[in-house]
Amino acid sequence: MQDITFNDHSGLRYLPEYFARASQEALLEAVRSVVAEAPLYQPAMPRTGKPFSVKMSNCGPLGWVSDIKGYRYQPLHPDTGRPWPAMPDQLKDLWSTLAPDAPPAEACLINFYQASARMGQHQDRDEDMFDAPVISVSLGDTATFRVGGTNRKDPTRSFRLNSGDVVVLGGEARLAYHGIDRVLAGTSTLLKNGGRINLTLRRVTAA
Ligand code: SIN
Ligand code: FE2
Repeated sequence: MQDITFNDHSGLRYLPEYFARASQEALLEAVRSVVAEAPLYQPAMPRTGKPFSVKMSNCGPLGWVSDIKGYRYQPLHPDTGRPWPAMPDQLKDLWSTLAPDAPPAEACLINFYQASARMGQHQDRDEDMFDAPVISVSLGDTATFRVGGTNRKDPTRSFRLNSGDVVVLGGEARLAYHGIDRVLAGTSTLLKNGGRINLTLRRVTAA
């Protein structure tokens, strides 16, 4: 495993191949159990109600949701009304390894991208505190990830996220703009029917 900590001291860390294939398979199994209990749902943009191109679910005590009323964290699945399933141990371990000083993660957003899905540049800023990093895991098809600075107009860099790669947005990069330009269909055999899963771990409330 390499650890690419960018030399601009921004707090952006890229950990390619953090999870080896067997660990990716185990994590995927855990995600499948979560989604069996908390099905992927169709989020929509605040105000316009335009559907996202990704489908979402969550695990952990809180889940990030978006609908016509806005973005927020909530303890219940918007369609089933049931609590989000527990966070798998592999994700708790990842958090305690990479964010040893932070209080436990409370939310893991599960994004599912089909080949044509993307995610526009945005900041993760619906949390009450920004001291803890955001940690993301990619599974399945490769995607091009673009990350900039804390202003929308800052220069950006882009790199490919392969299955098993981890990205940490901490420090100054905690509020960096980021998004997914595209998913490269057919680049991974992890998901039987293709596509990409991204898991994003966050601390939501102030400890
Ligand atoms: C996100 O910003 O919520 C997802 C990023 C990714 O899919 O890698
Ligand atoms: Fe994000």
